[in-house]
Amino acid sequence: MSTVADLMGPDGSAKTLHSQPKRQALTVVRLRASDWGVLKMVRLRALRESPKAFATGYQTECRVPRSVWQSRLTAATWLIARTGPDHEIVGVACLTGPDEPGEQNLVDAGRTRYVEAVWVAPDARRQGVVRRLLSSLEAEARHQHIDELMLWVLEHNRIAWEAYRHLGFVPTGEEQPLRVAPGRWVQERCMRKQLV
Ligand SMILES: CC(C)(COP(=O)(O)OP(=O)(O)OC[C@H]1O[C@@H](n2cnc3c(N)ncnc32)[C@H](O)[C@@H]1OP(=O)(O)O)[C@@H](O)C(=O)NCCC(=O)NCCS
Repeated sequence: MSTVADLMGPDGSAKTLHSQPKRQALTVVRLRASDWGVLKMVRLRALRESPKAFATGYQTECRVPRSVWQSRLTAATWLIARTGPDHEIVGVACLTGPDEPGEQNLVDAGRTRYVEAVWVAPDARRQGVVRRLLSSLEAEARHQHIDELMLWVLEHNRIAWEAYRHLGFVPTGEEQPLRVAPGRWVQERCMRKQLV
């Protein structure tokens, strides 16, 4: 099976993971540490477009320095999806690394990772973009000998919930309150997908 790591160049540069010989071919690539500007741009775009889907906000992330964007790229696997003649970015998804704060709470942190920061541009939705992004993340997770993926979804985000369910994630039953603004809390719900 092709994995993200298999498809990295010797200099660590991103190569195409998947491509289709169609007019609107979709490609999925991994970002390198030097791509921090691309990551910042797509994350800010996602936060501005879907402010209620994420645990952090546009204004907060605007203030994040370059060194933090770079360390996010080295600590985790970030994939973007591109399409069209201009290779427009239409989606992003992240697989956390072993040393990120949330991982320490996991029962078996060595074998479990979180999927985070999933977003698809509105014009590209319902065309299988997240299906492709998550399939690539799963391939990378398997390559890293990860047994299980987990993620959190805010309770009002029914579309994301349904999309993850359709792609094989199941509710764990765990819920927790998340502070989304001063004095404003929402519940988030956990889902998991066994890879083995
Ligand atoms: C949730 C989201 C990532 C889905 O991305 P997408 O590329 O449109 O999803 P896909 O086209 O790959 O669809 C995969 C499956 O999800 C389900 N799905 C996707 N959108 C759906 C919708 N609007 N209603 C119902 N089911 C939906 C379908 O079952 C679909 O499978 P199918 O096409 O075989 O029916 C996208 O809507 C999005 O970016 N939303 C805003 C940001 C967000 O909520 N991120 C998640 C944070 S946890």
